[in-house]
Amino acid sequence: MNKADLINEVAARTGLSKRAAARGINAALRVISTQVVAGQVITIKGLGSLKLRPKRRSLLPVAGKAEAKRTHATGNTVTLKLSRTAFRTIAEEPVKLYPQPRRIGGKITMAKEKDHDNNEAAASSDHNALGLDVGTSRLVLAGGAIDNVKTETELNAFITVPYSKFTENILKQNKIHYYQNGGTALQVYGNEAGRFANVFNIETRRPMMAGTLNPDEEQSMSVMEAIIQQLLKQPGKGESLRFSVPGPGRDGSAAADLVYHEAMLKKLLDTKGFNSKGVNEGLAVVFAELEKENFSGIGISCGGGMCNVALAFMSIPVMTFSINKAGDYIDRSVASVTGEGATRIRLIKEESLDLSHSPEDKFESALHIYYDDVILSLVESLRNALSDAKNMPGSEKPVPIVLSGGTAMPKGFLEKFQQAVERDKFPLAISEIRMARDPLTATARGCLIAALYDA
Ligand SMILES: Nc1ncnc2c1ncn2[C@@H]1O[C@H](COP(=O)(O)OP(=O)(O)O)[C@@H](O)[C@H]1O
Ligand SMILES: [Mg+2]
Repeated sequence: MNKADLINEVAARTGLSKRAAARGINAALRVISTQVVAGQVITIKGLGSLKLRPKRRSLLPVAGKAEAKRTHATGNTVTLKLSRTAFRTIAEEPVKLYPQPRRIGGKITMAKEKDHDNNEAAASSDHNALGLDVGTSRLVLAGGAIDNVKTETELNAFITVPYSKFTENILKQNKIHYYQNGGTALQVYGNEAGRFANVFNIETRRPMMAGTLNPDEEQSMSVMEAIIQQLLKQPGKGESLRFSVPGPGRDGSAAADLVYHEAMLKKLLDTKGFNSKGVNEGLAVVFAELEKENFSGIGISCGGGMCNVALAFMSIPVMTFSINKAGDYIDRSVASVTGEGATRIRLIKEESLDLSHSPEDKFESALHIYYDDVILSLVESLRNALSDAKNMPGSEKPVPIVLSGGTAMPKGFLEKFQQAVERDKFPLAISEIRMARDPLTATARGCLIAALYDA
């Protein structure tokens, strides 16, 4: 459970608005952390006591012990000793997902919740163009006017639960999106699948792998269809829709898979009534972020399955490529060397990783190592791709590089990327390296721009 889940739960149980619940929880957490750091013991009747222990202990809860431990930034440990009554109450409390009716279309974090609220109408029928970012981790739909873009996000994931009438009823009552699969299973997809996976501590399945449709997942197309349907809400009436497609590998690898991936998505979207076309993901970032540079420069999107790069001059792509090292590679590699599950690594990475500070435990050390690996691989590939590019316009002025995507989110990513570029001579004059205004929606926004201007 993360802080956003805590706020949702408290709001649901108290009837407070989420904003009010968040304010209360934030204030309480601030008081608790200040007091604990000042050496005070906090005792809460019915829960237990929280205090600072000067010595560093394990990061993880120790199975069978009533002590939850977490390392503290100073190397100290904060321990929560649960009282007997707390144990009893917790054990008796049934696991209940969404105790109150909620709007369909789950939310992943607080930040996205705001995004979602203001984005209700991403796919309403009065839009004549839409942009869809088809990512390994998430699908993001952008709609609306150019100066008032609305976006909506769904996790590109699903889980399968055994079919029973009872389970189906529970899903229905909780307004959770699912579909029946051959009478034996129920597929829960999108953001809801992420919530289920967190609650039950299981891994979600993925319709896509490393940037394209997952060949080992027979359900991939039907799940993608269900998630896309949920985002689009209603059939199209011939509107222009641009969806993101990855670039080929530097060695031309997976080029055939890309043809299949793009054709399958186009077929699906056209069947839904849209006039659809793929647009390179890196180029979409150029469209979204480099307007004032006349759409000239390098757009980079670092996602779950891959990093995508495009160099464009005046909106014309000159060079595009992708590498298969990105967020999933980091999660997998760190999980493998630390013996921890990839899901938990992903949570540590997303919630607390700061690449501008020295690592403080073995998880952070491994995360730094594989982040460096991804950044160096990316910059090296970019150097080589630029050196190899044959049709580069001569005597152009320096161009910017824009970074986007979930993997570029941690603090310090930009600086590490800058250092990697500055470390050696670079084949192209670069004016600046900066982050996208909203790294998680840049690709979808760029696709929308492409759709609006028929680029
Ligand atoms: N705040 C964050 N910090 C670090 N990593 C993040 C953060 N948010 C998302 N990610 C990671 O970014 C990747 C997904 O990025 P995204 O741009 O959504 O991907 P995709 O294009 O593959 O759908 C995942 O590996 C996810 O763990
Ligand atoms: Mg992406």
